[in-house]
Formats: sequence, structure tokens, C-alpha cells
Amino acid sequence: MENLDALTSDALQAIEQAQDIPGLEQLRVQYLGKKGSLTDLLKGLGKLDSSERPQAGASINAAKGKVQDALEARKLTLSAEAAASQQIAEAVDVTLPGRRQSAGGLHPVTRTLQRIESIFTSAGFDVVQGPEIEDDYHNFEALNIPAHHPARAMHDTFYFDSGLLLRTHTSTVQVRVMEKGEAPFRFICPGRVYRCDSDLTHTPMFHQVEGMLVDENATMADLKGLLVEFLQVFFEADLDVRFRPSYFPFTEPSAEMDVQCVSCKGEGCRVCSQTGWLEVGGCGMVHPNVLRSSNVDPEKYTGFAFGMGVDRLAMLRYQINDLRLLFDNDLRFLRQFSEGQGI
Ligand code: PHE
Repeated sequence: MENLDALTSDALQAIEQAQDIPGLEQLRVQYLGKKGSLTDLLKGLGKLDSSERPQAGASINAAKGKVQDALEARKLTLSAEAAASQQIAEAVDVTLPGRRQSAGGLHPVTRTLQRIESIFTSAGFDVVQGPEIEDDYHNFEALNIPAHHPARAMHDTFYFDSGLLLRTHTSTVQVRVMEKGEAPFRFICPGRVYRCDSDLTHTPMFHQVEGMLVDENATMADLKGLLVEFLQVFFEADLDVRFRPSYFPFTEPSAEMDVQCVSCKGEGCRVCSQTGWLEVGGCGMVHPNVLRSSNVDPEKYTGFAFGMGVDRLAMLRYQINDLRLLFDNDLRFLRQFSEGQGI
């Protein structure tokens, strides 16, 4: 009992100095808890002489009351302080400048596709799309490639269990357009194609653009003229183009087209493997069997078709030296194509 005053003033001082709510709670336990020092004093009352008891009890209860009040008051202050500092921490500085929206860019392959489309539409071609999941008929049969034809082996086809397949070329769209419409036809079909092939210069998915013109007097000369013009406009250069005899089951005659190397202008360099020429695609006069299977009369109509590798054209136009860059999605590469560049 002699220590009651000292105990009380220690308690009040400690409460005043408490820095946070958990610290305050500790003090409450220390003084007023079941085993707290003031509680102990109350428990000890029984040992006092009965004449001293009321006086002592009243003093202890008064001390308890003071400590309780101080705890309450400090708790209020501490929670007000915590709320205030939380508000400061969460405050939004409305005077800060906003974050700028950065404009994205188009993928070089998309750019190239758009460029090809714009050149051909200006020459009167429609742009059509076809499905990437195809059936055997549209990918092979209707293109004069019957079952067991050796040309099927060139295609490294991905098959589904159902017998459907991922189209190996965009020539499928020739069939789809012809079987639905009426000649004459003049369209291109850009899109993804798939072959089970993957190495430094081949990816299992790549892009082609197919072109087809069917009319009463379409000739190989028209085909050559169109493609030479296209390649010169595409590369913005007066490049030579050559046609080498080739074979495709769906065209006759068939040719492979090469453009003079855009890098060395035909001198011979690494890009063209010292040949001075770059392969850009295949073409030819549409085989009468193909016209016939799509209900176009080969006696009345002739046509030509071509297929070009879009990824190759993109690499040549933008001087990209590794095909894999087109599909890695590396932002350091892709950012070079953002903003402000034409197609
Ligand atoms: N489909 C052929 C290929 O993928 C290209 C081609 C298209 C050839 C049209 C001739 C005519 O290799």
C-alpha cells in the first residue's frame, strides 16, 4: 500500500509514453489484468486489518479508475494519430502529372499484310479470308492433289483425329471462293498456314498471301506483269523479277518467282546466299481440273494464281535477319515498329 502512489504515477507515465495500441494493451494487462499489480493489491485487502480495509480499498479503486481513464484517453489519441497518418499515406496528389498512354505498334507481319492488301486492293482485288482448320478436300483433293499424290509429302501436314487438318497453304481459299461465286474472280487471301516443320528458317505457323484471277482472257503475261509490278511497288525499288519453271499440281504451267536481292541488288551477299536472287513464292496458270472441281468452265475461263511467303517479305522489307524474331514477342524488337512509321 505504501507504493500505491508510486505505482499509479509509473502507470500513468508509461501510458502517456505508449507509442501504439498493442503497447497500450500490454500496460493494461500489466496493471489491471488478472495478475496485474493493481489487481494484486485489491486481492491483498483481505490481509489488512478490517479497520484499514475501506480506506485502502477506496484508494486502490481510485487509482484503478485513474489508470483506466488514462488508458482510454491514450487509446483515443493513438487511434486518431494512426488514422491521420494513414490518411496522409493514402492521399492522392491531384497536382501530379498523369501517366502518359504509350501507343502500341503493329507487328511487322501485320504491317506487311496491310501493305500487301493495300497494293492489291488498289489493283481491284478483293481481300477474302478462309478457315485455318480445313478438310482434305479443300487443302488437297480439289487442288488436283488426290490421295497418294506424291505432292502431299511436301506439305508436312498437321492432322486432327477427326481427319480435319490445319491448312498447309492459302490455296484452299481459291477453292472456297470459286465454289461459292461466279467467275470472273479477282481476290487475294492473306492468312496463317501450318506445316510440321521447325528449324532456323521454318516455323510451324507462318503467313502466306494467295492471289487469284480468273477471267475470259487471263494469261501468263498478265500474271507476270501483275507480280513484277507488285514486287516493285512493295519494295519501292526497280528490282528485276524472274520466273523459274516449277511444278504445282494445281497450276500448269507453274513457276517459282524470285526477286533480285533487295540487300545487294543482285551482286550476291549473305541474305541471298550469294545468288543475287530471293525466292518469294510460287505461281502459275490454274489447272483446268481445279477450275472444273469448283464448277468453273475451263473452256470459257482461264486463270492464274500465286502464293507468297509474307514473313519472308516482311524480313526483306524491314531487314530482319532472323525469322524467329517475328514470333518471339520480344518487346525490344517489337517497339522498333511502334508509332509513326507507315506500312
Ligand atoms: N500453294 C503453294 C505453296 O504453298 C504456292 C502457290 C500458290 C503456287 C498458287 C501456285 C499457285 O507452296
